[in-house]
Amino acid sequence: MHVRYYRDQDFNSLSQIEQKAFGEGAYSNYMLKMMLKSPGSFTMVVEDNSVLYGYATMEKLNLISVDIESIAIIPEQHGHGLGSLLIKAMEIEAKKRGYEDVVLEVREKNSGAINFYKNHGYIISELISGYYNLSYLGSVNAFRMTKHL
Ligand SMILES: CC(C)(COP(=O)(O)OP(=O)(O)OC[C@H]1O[C@@H](n2cnc3c(N)ncnc32)[C@H](O)[C@@H]1OP(=O)(O)O)[C@@H](O)C(=O)NCCC(=O)NCCS
Repeated sequence: MHVRYYRDQDFNSLSQIEQKAFGEGAYSNYMLKMMLKSPGSFTMVVEDNSVLYGYATMEKLNLISVDIESIAIIPEQHGHGLGSLLIKAMEIEAKKRGYEDVVLEVREKNSGAINFYKNHGYIISELISGYYNLSYLGSVNAFRMTKHL
């Protein structure tokens, strides 16, 4: 299992991971392409024997802060350390690029992900009312979490 940079030919696998991990809440392929091509973003994938198991994208917020736009591991592999491998690699890359802080937003009720981030040193800095507006859920609150690298 290793982490490497995303390549264009990974798109279909990445899109399937997104669908499996987020279900109804998954980004559309159009949104994914926008995120992946955004000039201030970088994406890494977890791969084993040419099969992708997860991906994460970070996007520049300002000169010192970067935002985790998305992180997802296929559900069959949750809890086996792949998310940890990926977030650590992303943080190292962010630091190399000169960022000092990582920021993210997570649904208030996504306790699995919130625990995952807490395990990795992220702290809740804010509760944002109605941050997400999801077609299948309506208005949903989010926590903003931060970590100083
Ligand atoms: C959040 C996510 C990326 C973590 O990846 P992972 O490979 O399951 O995480 P790891 O195995 O490295 O770490 C496990 C920790 O994550 C948390 N966790 C989250 N979801 C979990 C699950 N379904 N099963 C087990 N642990 C889970 C636990 O706190 C666990 O900590 P513990 O080992 O002390 O119990 C992954 O669960 C995922 O893709 N979730 C769906 C998409 C999502 O919600 N992304 C975040 C959006 S902000």
